[in-house]
Amino acid sequence: MEKVHFTEEKATMLATLYGRAVDARLDRPILGDQAAAEAVDKIDYDWRKFGMKTDAALSVAARAAALDAWTREFLDAHPTANVLHLGCGMDTRVYRMDPPPTVRWFDVDYPETVELRERIYPARDGYRMIGSSVTELGWLDEIPADRPTLVVAEGLTMYLDPEKGRALLRALVERFPSGEMVFDAFSRGAIAVQKINTPVRRSGATLHWGLAGPAELEALGLTVVDAKSAMDLVTPESIDRFTPVARWSLKVLSKIAFLRNMSHLVRCRF
Ligand SMILES: C[S@@+](CC[C@H](N)C(=O)[O-])C[C@H]1O[C@@H](n2cnc3c(N)ncnc32)[C@H](O)[C@@H]1O
Repeated sequence: MEKVHFTEEKATMLATLYGRAVDARLDRPILGDQAAAEAVDKIDYDWRKFGMKTDAALSVAARAAALDAWTREFLDAHPTANVLHLGCGMDTRVYRMDPPPTVRWFDVDYPETVELRERIYPARDGYRMIGSSVTELGWLDEIPADRPTLVVAEGLTMYLDPEKGRALLRALVERFPSGEMVFDAFSRGAIAVQKINTPVRRSGATLHWGLAGPAELEALGLTVVDAKSAMDLVTPESIDRFTPVARWSLKVLSKIAFLRNMSHLVRCRF
């Protein structure tokens, strides 16, 4: 068993890993990420502290599945590409996507996260992990800038200092010839009421960056081509996996604009 001592925003990756593991153990999972369940079994941690119930785990899995679908579409259209998976945490997306060796895939997160990944997950061709803060931009020099590039960032942007986050996105747009960025972003209102976010509160993390709207991304050189409220990620095929209370809450709460706009999954081109 691997002992871990992560705090604040680094601990949140354990909450999402656990969510995907809970989903994988269900009879009818949304994502079915068995590698996440195996990773949880190898890590010595008090997982109960996140208070992650099945409905919350299914929501984590639905977000990952939606970003996987956009990732798959990009890789199908660009079999020779870079993928930069920023704030990867313990996510197993590279194994779920299983890209061909023509794809160069980089997982980037803090050095402590990368050390844990190296102990838990196997190496593979075309795959590298980089231990760095994503906002200390020196790591970008290690990425060849000759290919279309997909940037995936799940559960990352809201933890970044807004100024540093914008500088990161601008640097990515400038460095690569073309590509897409797919990520989730919080509204400013979601940052203001962050204490209602149980996994974030229990990890002791603080959220900083809430987007004013799509114009903030367009000003960085991105074109927003799709945006989905987190409340729309539960599809007609997956809704029956949720408890009746969760289904009712989703139906009622999604009519309240403030709540509906709190979190979006965005797909941008550059
Ligand atoms: C909520 S977790 C999400 C992890 C993973 N994407 C997932 O969905 O399971 C947030 C992740 O962002 C990482 N993170 C936050 N700020 C970062 C920064 N400045 N540089 C690198 N990683 C960062 C944390 O270490 C953590 O792994």
